[in-house]
Formats: sequence, C-alpha cells, structure tokens
Amino acid sequence: MQFKAFTIAALVASAAAKQRCAAPAPTEQQIEASRQMKIQEDNYAAVAGESMHIQATINTNVYWHVIASARTVAAGWLSNATLDAQLDVLNEAYAPHGISFNDAGRDWTINSNWAQDGAELAMKKALRKGTYKDVNVYFVPTLDAFGYAYLPDSVSTGSNAFYRDGCTILSSTVPGGSETNFNLGYTVVHEVGHWLGLLHTFEGGCSGSGDMVSDTPAERSQASGCPVGRDTCSGGGVDPIHNYMDYSDDPCYEEFTAGQQTRMYSQWNTYRA
Ligand SMILES: *[C@@H]1O[C@H](CO)[C@@H](O)[C@H](O)[C@H]1NC(C)=O
Ligand SMILES: [Zn+2]
Repeated sequence: MQFKAFTIAALVASAAAKQRCAAPAPTEQQIEASRQMKIQEDNYAAVAGESMHIQATINTNVYWHVIASARTVAAGWLSNATLDAQLDVLNEAYAPHGISFNDAGRDWTINSNWAQDGAELAMKKALRKGTYKDVNVYFVPTLDAFGYAYLPDSVSTGSNAFYRDGCTILSSTVPGGSETNFNLGYTVVHEVGHWLGLLHTFEGGCSGSGDMVSDTPAERSQASGCPVGRDTCSGGGVDPIHNYMDYSDDPCYEEFTAGQQTRMYSQWNTYRA
C-alpha cells in the first residue's frame, strides 16, 4: 500500500493474528460525505416512510487479477474454478440488494514483487481495466491483512487515485483457501462493501452516528470470531457482528442492512454511476 492505515483496528489487532482489513481510514471529507448522505436518506425515510430507491439495480463489471510468485496455490496461483466460486459468493451476498457483478475478465501474472503488494501503483497501472464503475480485484499471496480497498471519491480518469481504486485480497481467503475461518470468500464481499462506500460498522465507536448508517447498531470496536450477543454500546441494540462490514470470521457473516443498501446506491449515484 501507498500509506499505512492508522485505524483503531490496526492498533488493537493482536500481533499474531492477521488484520481482517487494512482499508485506509476514511478522510474527514469522506466521513462528511457519508454524513450528508445519511441526512438525505433519513429525511426521505421520515417523509416517505420507506427507504430511498435511487435506482432499481446496480450491475457492473468485475475484473479479476491473480498475482502469484509461482504457479502453485501456495504461491498465489488461483484456478478458474476458484474464481468462479468467488464470483458466486460475491453475487449471492449482493443479490438481495439488487447489485450484481459481471465477470468481465481475468488475468494471471507471475511477479514476486507484485505478489507481496510491493509496487501497488505500478502493478495497478499495468493491470487495471474498465472505468470508475468497474471493480478490479487483485489477489496476492502475501499481505499484512486479508484485504484492503478504497472508498469512492471524486477522482478523474487516469489519475493515480483512479488507478489505485479497487480491492486487494489475500489469495488464501478465497472459497476453499487455506485461511482457517476466513476462507469462504467473504473478504471480497467486505472489501467490495468499502468500494461501494460502506464504512466499518464500528467506525465512530459508540459516539454520534457511528458508521453514518441509521440501522446498524453502534459498537465500540470491531468484533472477532463470532461473539453472539455482544453489546458494547448502551442502547441501539446488540452489536452487528453478522454484518459484512464488521471484522467477524467468515462463517459469522450474514448480511448488509437496508440502510447500507440505500447508502451503496447513494454512493454509487454520487461517485460511480
Ligand atoms: C481460465 O480459462 C480461460 C478461458 O478458458 C483460459 O484461457 C485460461 O488459461 C484459464 N486460466 C487458468 C489459470 O487455467
Ligand atoms: Zn474493512
């Protein structure tokens, strides 16, 4: 990565366990944009008695890039069958929200520096495809975290921010991968959630508007494992440990909320459509 993410999560993650996510912390501007979207969405709901339906569906392209240091699974090589399974997991998670991903292209590269995310921008300048509406997913076998991605922003085509846009994923987290408790392919679901503009459910802790989405109960910090009944903030309900935007293990992940769905459409319309 170009810069380190100094999130609370990074600081409290145990030294032994790999961090679930190293997405850069949202900027003040990105938090403010989310706050403005929340105000609009909440106002609409108060008047109309239902969630905003900005557009009916989102259908977009996904480009898969496999980077390995050699042609073995341990070195990051992924088969077409594994990418098929990963695409299915992605589409099944987003289908209830009217969001779908077309398999638009796949490539495989052997490069030991890129395989440890050693030259992010150069790698992405070589491999990135499509427009700002299209999601590029880069699988690498060596990464400090299971994944990271960038929030939508005002970027111009061809800028470095445009090239950086996308999701980088530890290859062992794919369906059937070797990452115990994190091998159902939900790392891609989580990182694409950021790509669609969602913050972590524990963003902001117990204070204020938390993750800026009204129907995700606030939580003090990220969950790990699957701590059913965990409740770290008074009022608002138990922690959203089954939410794809928490840090729970893959088998614990179940859902996005209606509010997160609305937010993904708000972000899409603002930045990517
Ligand atoms: C994946 O499938 C495509 C199309 O059939 C093929 O060209 C490519 O070589 C396959 N890749 C791998 C790694 O098997
Ligand atoms: Zn994350």
